Amino acid sequence: MKVKCTGLLTLLAGLASCASVTKAELEDSRANYVKLGFDKLKGNTFSDATKHAKPIAKLHKRDDGYEEMTIVNQQSFYSVELGVGSSDQNVTVLVDTGSSDLWIMGSNNPYCKAGTVSNNKRRVGIRHPEKRAEDFDPFSWLTFSSSEGSTATGTQTIVPSASATLTCSQYGTFATSSSSSFQSNDTEFYIQYGDGTFALGTWGTDTIKVDGLEISNVSFAVANETDSSVGVLGIGLPGLETTNSGSLVTSARDAYEYENFPLVLKRDGIINRNAYSLFLNSSDAQTGSVLFGAVDHSKYTGTLYTIPLINTLSGYSEPIQFEVTLQGLGLQANDTNTTLTTTKIPALLDSGTTLAYFPSNLATMIARGVGATYSSLYGYYMMSCSDIDTSTEIIYDFGGFLIASPLENYIIQTSGSTCILGILPQSGNSIILGDTFLTSAYVVYDLENLEISLAQANVGSTGSDNIDVISSSVPSAVKAPAYSSTWSTSASIATGGNIFTVTVGSSQNNSSGTTTTSGSSGTTTRSTSTTTSSTRQNLAIAIQPSWQFVWTGLCMSTVVSIISWFL
Ligand SMILES: *[C@@H]1O[C@H](CO)[C@@H](O)[C@H](O)[C@H]1NC(C)=O
Ligand SMILES: *[C@@H]1O[C@H](CO)[C@@H](O)[C@H](O)[C@H]1NC(C)=O
Ligand SMILES: *[C@@H]1O[C@H](CO)[C@@H](O)[C@H](O)[C@H]1NC(C)=O
Ligand SMILES: *[C@@H]1O[C@H](CO)[C@@H](O)[C@H](O)[C@H]1NC(C)=O
Ligand SMILES: *[C@@H]1O[C@H](CO)[C@@H](O)[C@H](O)[C@H]1NC(C)=O
Ligand SMILES: *[C@@H]1O[C@H](CO)[C@@H](O)[C@H](O)[C@H]1NC(C)=O
Ligand SMILES: *[C@@H]1O[C@H](CO)[C@@H](O)[C@H](O)[C@H]1NC(C)=O
Repeated sequence: MKVKCTGLLTLLAGLASCASVTKAELEDSRANYVKLGFDKLKGNTFSDATKHAKPIAKLHKRDDGYEEMTIVNQQSFYSVELGVGSSDQNVTVLVDTGSSDLWIMGSNNPYCKAGTVSNNKRRVGIRHPEKRAEDFDPFSWLTFSSSEGSTATGTQTIVPSASATLTCSQYGTFATSSSSSFQSNDTEFYIQYGDGTFALGTWGTDTIKVDGLEISNVSFAVANETDSSVGVLGIGLPGLETTNSGSLVTSARDAYEYENFPLVLKRDGIINRNAYSLFLNSSDAQTGSVLFGAVDHSKYTGTLYTIPLINTLSGYSEPIQFEVTLQGLGLQANDTNTTLTTTKIPALLDSGTTLAYFPSNLATMIARGVGATYSSLYGYYMMSCSDIDTSTEIIYDFGGFLIASPLENYIIQTSGSTCILGILPQSGNSIILGDTFLTSAYVVYDLENLEISLAQANVGSTGSDNIDVISSSVPSAVKAPAYSSTWSTSASIATGGNIFTVTVGSSQNNSSGTTTTSGSSGTTTRSTSTTTSSTRQNLAIAIQPSWQFVWTGLCMSTVVSIISWFL
């Protein structure tokens, strides 16, 4: 049944000949939605990530007396395999709601040949610009591979790696010359991710096969230079496309949006509406799924509540990334419900980030509430593993409804008796919620209405699907009680309020007499000033491609200041 688009057919694809075959094929079996199952890969780095990896940690005694911890297999990422081009070249890509472009690695990436691809690439961590060269960062894996952990010292650029060639082949590369249907756009592509990694290449179009689906004329970039070992399937808003908000766009006149992957599904009638549902499944599950064009009611419990996206970026008339208002945060611990804050804070929902980042004083409040203490030696909140109460939950109020997220999901195990709390402080009053949170939530992204619908995820669910196609509004979703009570301006985090007895209107007002807390002295030793912008690739506006080698040696805070200045 599969029809390959020849070069000629592709030229004629204005007639939608290739696409319509795929569509017809689809309509036989499915009704206007696409379920993309993905594998959850875990590893210390992208290149050693495997499906069945178990967290391992090692403790070594160092000469200078403290313990050096190495923790592996804690990076998780969500991947799908694509068949690209007429010769069906297989490439594995990371599914990312935090960016909007699809790019894959070209077979001509000199970083592979020269053996210089470093083993990392995931926006899990933060740079530590203030780190002195003599500082040792045992948690460099949180940001980078061990080879790149030293970038913040300013002494290193791209580190040659003996396994680089393997790294490139592990997730597949694409040889444009081997695909008769590939068409170059002859325009340059450049993306800079929050972890400092980049991809540079050329735009083009070709056929993409995914999960039994064949789609012709999909725009994607082929990276001929990248220090990332895995490509990315960005499924975010078109406004976040690098052609619109990337660093190569130097004037509003040059900015344009194109039909990215979700929009192509709609263009071809494969889905009715540019909307999808993300189910990451339980944290130890090996699979999850993204359901384009539909919602699966079997994957959540309770009610699906809708809240609006908010726009926190200046220079954009509407939201270009998945930011929502967190209206309150609390803990269910020691058999008590405790509200930490009801200050409204922007929260970015980003499947391309592993951990969670909070304003530092809020991170401190969470840590105290769960019994973790700041280790100035390691720079993280830590606690005795045996003290972890598996019934403790972090409770998020998104507007009169609560999502509970087990503390266990945020714990980074070591082989020792000390555990790390994967809640990291960042400067600024915003939050990034990565996979640790997203595992607890069923999230429907409505890219046309600029809304998010959230419910408590039915983790580990093995029941049969109960799928409803999204044609206009999200089926069964109701407006959150405090839908309109959105973030409008940055406020310092105040304690008080009550998220546990939510009644419309009242939960959104901070009780009078609240006190503003300041960050603990523990966190002040460790500036994390780059984190706020670390997952916003459009913030790389000021960074030109030629800077790529300079990046690693630059003090990141300086870079970010430059960027901020531009915004
Ligand atoms: C491919 O899609 C673009 C829109 O994204 C359209 O302008 C172009 O004509 C299409 N090309 C072919 C060969 O169908
Ligand atoms: C790509 O993967 C599919 C399914 O996993 C397989 O059938 C196909 O042969 C692979 N293609 C190549 C070129 O290896
Ligand atoms: C990669 O492609 C870009 C844009 O097309 C080009 O400027 C650059 O020279 C290419 N680099 C290599 C190593 O081929
Ligand atoms: C590729 O070229 C087509 C036709 O010029 C254009 O419409 C489309 O937006 C381009 N795609 C990208 C990603 O630049
Ligand atoms: C979720 O995980 C369970 C087991 O942990 C598995 O049986 C189920 O198939 C997974 N669901 C999806 C949609 O991947
Ligand atoms: C905490 O709040 C939840 C509602 O979110 C409620 O079901 C539970 O009974 C409360 N627990 C206590 C100890 O008050
Ligand atoms: C729960 O108990 C632990 C240990 O006594 C304490 O450190 C923590 O602050 C308590 N948390 C809350 C929310 O009461």
